[in-house]
Amino acid sequence: MGAVSIRLFEQSDALEVSRLVLRVIRNEFSNNYSKDVIRVQSARYSSEGILASKAIRWVAVARGRIVGTVGADGPEIVGLFVEKEERNCGVGSALLRTAEKTVFKEYPQTIIYAAHGSEEFDLKHGYSPIKRIRISCKGVRFWVTYLVKNRPQVMPSRTGLSP
Ligand SMILES: CC(C)(COP(=O)(O)OP(=O)(O)OC[C@H]1O[C@@H](n2cnc3c(N)ncnc32)[C@H](O)[C@@H]1OP(=O)(O)O)[C@@H](O)C(=O)NCCC(=O)NCCS
Repeated sequence: MGAVSIRLFEQSDALEVSRLVLRVIRNEFSNNYSKDVIRVQSARYSSEGILASKAIRWVAVARGRIVGTVGADGPEIVGLFVEKEERNCGVGSALLRTAEKTVFKEYPQTIIYAAHGSEEFDLKHGYSPIKRIRISCKGVRFWVTYLVKNRPQVMPSRTGLSP
């Protein structure tokens, strides 16, 4: 993956994260989603929207730039985005693992609502699609796939076993 580090989001990252996410939404989602969906998603990932969100968020940093981000809102993994030029190098997987680790400390399952054709990526990471559901966000309705992943079973540690 090269020199990529993952750290918690800081308030001063909001503009850079917003620009990254909005680039992906506008350049890659506009063929598949209506203008209304793009508008709602763009508002969600404006810097104000990001700062107002109660999700815990992380960023991936390479060469001093933010190249990816992910959030965890309760058991739900939200807003996983990697800069187009930085993909297929493991950044998305590393971000997902980071968010999962935090969620699994508190919840037995992680949840993803996949709305952007990224289900295959989620399946590769052990997610099971449960159902297609229609959600409504600010009056705009769209279909998403509801996927879950169970907390991995912890192997008993050898030192914890009786002789
Ligand atoms: C999905 C995403 C985060 C993956 O980031 P990434 O850094 O390329 O991920 P990794 O390098 O860890 O993994 C790449 C693998 O996932 C696969 N993959 C990535 N995006 C995929 C997609 N949309 N559909 C299917 N497979 C995908 C790649 O083919 C690759 O597979 P391989 O390991 O078998 O070669 C990135 O493609 C992205 O930002 N997409 C747009 C936003 C999005 O859809 N986010 C998810 C929901 S909000």
